[in-house]
Amino acid sequence: MSDTTPEITILRELLDREPDFLSGSKLAAKLGMSRVGVWAHMEKLRKQGFGFEAVRSRGYRLTQRPNELHPALIEAHLRSSPRKVSIHFLSEVDSTSSEAERLLAAGESAPFVVLSRRQLAGRGRLGRPWHSEANGNLYSSFAFRPLIEPSKMQTFTMWMGINLCELIENFCHASPGLKWPNDLIFDGRKVGGMLTEARMDSDHIRDLVFGLGLNVNGTVSTLPAALSRTATSLSDRVGQPLDLNRFAAALIGRVLQAYDRFVEGEGGRDLIARWEKHDVLRGKLVTVIQGDRKYSGTAAGIDEEGSLLLRQDSNRIARFRAGEVTLEKQS
Ligand code: BTN
Repeated sequence: MSDTTPEITILRELLDREPDFLSGSKLAAKLGMSRVGVWAHMEKLRKQGFGFEAVRSRGYRLTQRPNELHPALIEAHLRSSPRKVSIHFLSEVDSTSSEAERLLAAGESAPFVVLSRRQLAGRGRLGRPWHSEANGNLYSSFAFRPLIEPSKMQTFTMWMGINLCELIENFCHASPGLKWPNDLIFDGRKVGGMLTEARMDSDHIRDLVFGLGLNVNGTVSTLPAALSRTATSLSDRVGQPLDLNRFAAALIGRVLQAYDRFVEGEGGRDLIARWEKHDVLRGKLVTVIQGDRKYSGTAAGIDEEGSLLLRQDSNRIARFRAGEVTLEKQS
């Protein structure tokens, strides 16, 4: 878990001054240490992939930052977030969601976020594995203790999906689509997946873990063949790598804000209309698979409980709470 360290303060101060220089004496005063002490912390950062330009009588500025997830840099970028949150960073983990569950079970106070560069046993919906190489993608799990009725959480994943689309739109100037219930899509290819898991306590949700895998800077060409046909990444989409740590900080801020709004009851308002803006299934011929059963029809959006609506022959509307949706070849 992270507290404010000298490294975070140095990065925060330098980011605040960008593209200008910050004088060594100001930095030393801010940190309450000697300039030699500041220099030692900057050396530590240099070893982690940061570069600094030092000019006599002007001071320092940041010239290089690591491409991989770096917890102190995320903290430094998070300075403007109104909501304080602990970040648990692990360069490698079985699954960030499993780690979040373990921390919740051990009594860690929520909310918190678990981030990792690589997962050895990342999991997706319906028990599927989630391919999680250390290739510039984001593996994150957000832990909450909502203490609200399960029926009020039904639309949570969809609400988060809408918020993530809006965040990506702001950040990348490209708007992903949503494939019910939990996929983020660009041009028919998956760019991210959400997995919401909850633990109940009598009639309340006690622990909630919202897992998000997002292909940020990973290139599709390095993925296993089956995935390279169906996946994409934000960088592939925008044609250049993203600033991963700045993006991670923006994501953390947005997820926490979206959670607060959801708990305050905003999740229901406008949900259907906002979902419709991103819905990639609407109006398409689809098949919903539930166990051994298959249902075909035309996707017709979601209802206020987040169920998928399917217009079947005879114009009957069927509702699905769960299931796997595949797109039929459109004629
Ligand atoms: C899906 O599309 O099936 C959901 C994928 C969710 C993957 C994320 S990666 C971070 C978190 N940790 C996991 O083990 N799974 C989720």
